Amino acid sequence: MTRFAPAGALRGSLRPPPDKSISHRAALIAAMGEGETRIEGYLDAADTRSTLAAAEALGATVAGEGTGTEWALRIAGVGLRGPRPSAIDVGNAGTLLRLLPGWLAGQEGGSWKLDGDESIRRRPVDRVAAPLREMGASVSCREDRLPPLQIRAGRLHGIEYRMPVASAQVKSCLLFAGLLAAGPTTILEPLPSRDHSERMLAAAGARIEPGEGSVTVHPADRLQPGVIAVPADISSAAFFVVAALLVGGSEVVLDDVGVNPTRTGLLTILERMGAEIEVEPLGERGGEPTGRLRVRSAPLQGTEVGGAEIPLAIDELPLVALAGCFAEGTTTIRDAAELRRKESDRIATVSTALNALGGRVEPTDDGMVIEGAGGLRGGQIDSHGDHRIAMLGAVAGLASEQGVEVRGMDAAAVSYPGFEFDLAAISGRGG
Ligand code: S3P
Repeated sequence: MTRFAPAGALRGSLRPPPDKSISHRAALIAAMGEGETRIEGYLDAADTRSTLAAAEALGATVAGEGTGTEWALRIAGVGLRGPRPSAIDVGNAGTLLRLLPGWLAGQEGGSWKLDGDESIRRRPVDRVAAPLREMGASVSCREDRLPPLQIRAGRLHGIEYRMPVASAQVKSCLLFAGLLAAGPTTILEPLPSRDHSERMLAAAGARIEPGEGSVTVHPADRLQPGVIAVPADISSAAFFVVAALLVGGSEVVLDDVGVNPTRTGLLTILERMGAEIEVEPLGERGGEPTGRLRVRSAPLQGTEVGGAEIPLAIDELPLVALAGCFAEGTTTIRDAAELRRKESDRIATVSTALNALGGRVEPTDDGMVIEGAGGLRGGQIDSHGDHRIAMLGAVAGLASEQGVEVRGMDAAAVSYPGFEFDLAAISGRGG
């Protein structure tokens, strides 16, 4: 159990760790590349280590050094058509599990098996298996839905694929496969989702054409990423944004944060709830817009969250529910059934956790209804091995009346190994 006591005003500035989504893509695209790619500021966390290990297993060479949660890496790629056969352990990394099959499915004659930890074995992969089969690969999975995933690559042909749910992971998987297919591949999204793969592939020389609600990728001979710089992760910054809002008298600055509009849904939602979040633009880093966020504590009102806002804030919805507990009135989250398919069933784990702390959260099929009570009492929660639930509990502790004990705080290392250190620093408790 790790205890997070109620905190006085949070003060200070920090640069959150590098973006996890962008780091996964950087390692994979570097592995697909010709020659050496330099990655500036690769995230050193459990999930992104799994992706480096996969890149090495497939024949790429990884060298580099780190400071804190950041690495400067040099990856010698195997080329788009060069990955060698091996078993891949994706660990806890859902993004690796969904993205990598796209690259492997197009390696005619090759065969790979992907498996991971206990939580990954509950994450659906039929969402990538079905379109990859349509493109010409042979893909099998347990109960036709779950890992392990067995890929027998084939001669792929481009397709037009309408995704049933907005998923950047599925879209990215098919963008990778499309590089190796005959003819163009068009992916139609029901709603816009994060576009880091599109940006990074285009920068590496791929022909990517964004359309109205769609993106088309053309076959490629080679990728040459050169240098990829990774901004700080807005999904990690989000914990400090909400902590600063909820703990009275706080003012926190978060530096060099990626503010790609496909990732900033939380900021829009919180502003609607009454928050004032200044975003000072800092230009582009690695083809991604970055900014300096300044957040001060503020009283919040309930709001409604659904539709197109969901993919733009998908990983931050647990924090919206926490903010809802401190707001006046009701906060409703709908259209978010995807939350049930994350590292834990986040509709269940978030509502159980917040209710254990004195919140009034009702889980629904596709979201949560949160009755704001102006705060939380405190108590004990279980992370269920989910990094974002562990960090949610810590933030709740700082803002609560009596503090929060988190069972399974070590899960935070999946995306943010230095989280407790940074939280202590900003709450004036050392660090
Ligand atoms: C991610 C996309 C999202 C997100 C996940 C990371 C990515 O998942 O929840 O944490 O890096 O592409 P979906 O694509 O399943 O929505």
